[in-house]
Amino acid sequence: LTVAVLISGTGSNLRALLEAAEDPDYPARIVVVGADREADGLAHAEDFGIPSFTVPYAHFATREEWGAELAAQLRVWRPDLVVLSGLMRLLPAELVDEWSPNIINTHPAYLPEFPGAHGVRDALAAGAAQTGASVIVVDNGVDSGPIVAQERVPVLAGDDEHTLHERIKPVERRLLIDVVRRIAVGELDLTSP
Ligand code: GRF
Repeated sequence: LTVAVLISGTGSNLRALLEAAEDPDYPARIVVVGADREADGLAHAEDFGIPSFTVPYAHFATREEWGAELAAQLRVWRPDLVVLSGLMRLLPAELVDEWSPNIINTHPAYLPEFPGAHGVRDALAAGAAQTGASVIVVDNGVDSGPIVAQERVPVLAGDDEHTLHERIKPVERRLLIDVVRRIAVGELDLTSP
């Protein structure tokens, strides 16, 4: 299975996928990494010799024009699966519709709890005793697509957004690596998750 990973940030989830894909028995290959800015995580692609591209959101007048360029880049690489992992942008419906259902996203909360760009902060603000990590199929809502994997993560006394997010990310990585594997071997059919 060929995979394109889209990021905006540090790309720790991307790195975990790259490391997993180093194993010749892992049934998926990351063929390209894309970013909506000069993301730090692009360095991981370089470390692993994986091609990357950036489509800087700031260079485009509208989300649709940005999305159209992103879609054009993805078409060049023709991956089987697109993984959003820390992409902090909503994709235009045209791109989602072109790739659906072969486009998944990781989210640092136990969806449908705490969707959106601040899931970790929102769980803390709500005083939740536990939150979680989720992998979903991307639809045209905000973190509203079918859930393909999720796991609870405890909120500990004294947690701040950083400590809680750092406890969530390893769970997210493990779920993501397993979901991509299951898709690759046909255990998980995204058309009927
Ligand atoms: C991850 O928790 C992801 O789910 C969220 O942002 C974080 C990205 O972390 N959207 P990283 O860039 O993979 O380190």
